[in-house]
Amino acid sequence: MPLALRLRIPTTNAVRRAGLARPALLPARPFVRAHHCPPGQQSPLDPANQPKTGEQPAYGPIGVAAALHHSPNDPAPTPTLFRHEFSLADRVALVSGGNRGLGLEMALGLVEAGARAVYCVDLPREPSDEWQQVRAYAARMADTGGEGRLEYVSGDVTDQEAMWKIGQDIGDREGRMDACIAAAGVLKSHTDCLEYPASQFREVMDVNVNGVLFTAQAAGRQMARFGNGGSIVLIASMSGSITNKDHAWVSYNTSKSAVLQMARSMACELGPKRIRVNTLSPGHIYTNMTAAYLDTQPHLLGKWAGLNPMGRIGRPDELRGVVTWLTSDASTFVGYTRSILVSGGHHSW
Ligand SMILES: NC(=O)c1ccc[n+]([C@@H]2O[C@H](COP(=O)([O-])OP(=O)(O)OC[C@H]3O[C@@H](n4cnc5c(N)ncnc54)[C@H](O)[C@@H]3O)[C@@H](O)[C@H]2O)c1
Repeated sequence: MPLALRLRIPTTNAVRRAGLARPALLPARPFVRAHHCPPGQQSPLDPANQPKTGEQPAYGPIGVAAALHHSPNDPAPTPTLFRHEFSLADRVALVSGGNRGLGLEMALGLVEAGARAVYCVDLPREPSDEWQQVRAYAARMADTGGEGRLEYVSGDVTDQEAMWKIGQDIGDREGRMDACIAAAGVLKSHTDCLEYPASQFREVMDVNVNGVLFTAQAAGRQMARFGNGGSIVLIASMSGSITNKDHAWVSYNTSKSAVLQMARSMACELGPKRIRVNTLSPGHIYTNMTAAYLDTQPHLLGKWAGLNPMGRIGRPDELRGVVTWLTSDASTFVGYTRSILVSGGHHSW
């Protein structure tokens, strides 16, 4: 078996102890007590009108609806935005390329947002020391509202059968699948487009395109199986819609463009199942991938930094917020965007 699943079945449910229940696990309950509409007008808050906007959050009214249905005799209200909408309490996620770099950073972000378990899939048989340290840190973290559980799965995203099996195993053990981040990717050294070797081009496509599809399938099949909806985030790149000046990266740029269109197509097919598919397009972020260039060609730092209005390259942690937003209820109507650029404004010039 090409994968080594290291799974721990949760013995406690910190989520429910903390009173942060995953909405889809709860039966929907009506929350409208009064109508605040002039006679003859329909209230958008009336449960009879809910089919027009889809299911209301099972944890009750939020925002203006909550305010309008609050009575001075009720206990003082508490904010719902971070407690519910941005919370990933009790959710389960799969992150490819999660052994290091952007994948690991985003996996930790999901844990901090309350996820029950985040499964990091990556090539090495054993996770890196960095990953182990992050897991220990997450496990000790207080007040996440979740279990702080990072799991490592050795797997190759180019192996469709193995990826589907990984997804199936996670689904069997956790009983749900809510979020997916397809972050595994490769970038090669400069190669002249007219001489580009077929084998290398295929290799890049295999990881950056096929592997992204197989990862999205692995998680998406489980989302469909459990019927709770879900959010799939494909990590593309600004290189999917621009060409990095002076860099001969034809395979990488082509692959990232394919990811943008893959998300669009998948989003249209999966929307009716309440599975959202979006892409993130980072700009220049300092990770092992870019260090291969920046650490060997120091002049590139100033050059890359000068290509966006902020005048610097990005940190991996600057993707935590956007990925939490995209995988949480805070973005339930973000069914598809061509891509969310996190690039310091690189595209503006
Ligand atoms: N760093 C940047 O500036 C930047 C910019 C735009 C997009 N991205 C994208 O973000 C993603 C993460 O990049 P990063 O900067 O963290 O790079 P990274 O090299 O640090 O991490 C990539 C991870 O993917 C894993 N991986 C590669 N092939 C795999 C395979 N076949 N199966 C499973 N895992 C595999 C690697 O082992 C590694 O852990 C990539 O898709 C990359 O293209 C990065």
